[in-house]
Amino acid sequence: MAYQPNNPSFSSDAIHLSSAFGNPTIRDVVPPICLSTIYEQDVPPTYKKGDHVVAQNDLYHGIFNLFNRLNLETNEIEVDFVDASISDNFKNIIRKNTKLVWLETPTNPLMKMVDLQTVTSLIKSQNPSTIIACDNTFLSPYFQRPANFGVDIVMHSCTKFIGGHADVLMGALCTNNEDIYTKLKNDQVFYGPVPSSFDCYLVLRSLKTLEIRMQRHMSNALKVARFLEQHPMIEKVFHPGLESHEHHELSLKQCYGHSGIFSFYIKDHNIDTTLKVVKRLRFILLAESLGAVETTLKIPSIMPPNSLTDEEMKAQGITNGLIRINVGLENPEDIIEDMRQALDF
Ligand SMILES: Cc1ncc(COP(=O)(O)O)c(C=O)c1O
Repeated sequence: MAYQPNNPSFSSDAIHLSSAFGNPTIRDVVPPICLSTIYEQDVPPTYKKGDHVVAQNDLYHGIFNLFNRLNLETNEIEVDFVDASISDNFKNIIRKNTKLVWLETPTNPLMKMVDLQTVTSLIKSQNPSTIIACDNTFLSPYFQRPANFGVDIVMHSCTKFIGGHADVLMGALCTNNEDIYTKLKNDQVFYGPVPSSFDCYLVLRSLKTLEIRMQRHMSNALKVARFLEQHPMIEKVFHPGLESHEHHELSLKQCYGHSGIFSFYIKDHNIDTTLKVVKRLRFILLAESLGAVETTLKIPSIMPPNSLTDEEMKAQGITNGLIRINVGLENPEDIIEDMRQALDF
């Protein structure tokens, strides 16, 4: 089986849409930097005390913490956390006051996939007005388009693959729904989450090479994953593009490919062994963020910010032997050689 055939014009759109064909005010080949810190505004929407939210239990920690704080510390909203990779978990959890369901696929760090088509249908059949949001940071719009499966808001940390060079901090919320767009736009105006002109300029430049970078992230990562899969020091590799992954079929059905991100267990799950391997690496960097041209990795069990308790980590499979890697755009043979010499001791 193979991944879904991708849109052959993706790169043309990414390169030209930012120059806004048909927009009489923008003719520049490279978009100009427009300096403004003030934007026209309308009315602000907010959530109400007592609203209910359903969120995935293995979300990016920043969003997990936000929901946890609103739920436990401030009692503002009620949140149920579920394992979203099991679609049936959504069968009886949606209520009349469920305003939002927050998903992320593939998940961090074990790359579980959420079946977006099944989950969105289940949610909307119980409450059509529940807004479904999905963090698509790990795959970028090149490899996965959640809106095609009924997701209302797609979130990207542009800091990662979309920016792609670890030199920008930005997020994006995308929607096909006019009402949601108007509300988000108003929130932006009122609360000020406005990226700087220079960051916008960098992200627009990066979009032009998104397709070609993602293809290289994918082919490099698959080569490294296959190498690790057969290495005697490695117990298991979690990469949805590998036949061995529990959600491989779903990944093929839902996506156009997979990015540079995956994870693996070093045998014996001992932190000293894991640190020894990481310290022996020559050019693969230990770093928190991901999605850039350099190959980086992190040890999720010990690297802050980690808001999970030991029990929660155990339940999620985050052991001291787990490494999450983002395979960059270097020569794949060099990346493999660095891993080989670090693992062979
Ligand atoms: C899946 C995911 N979503 C969102 C974020 C937040 O990104 P930013 O660094 O742009 O705040 C991260 C950061 O690691 C992430 O991994």
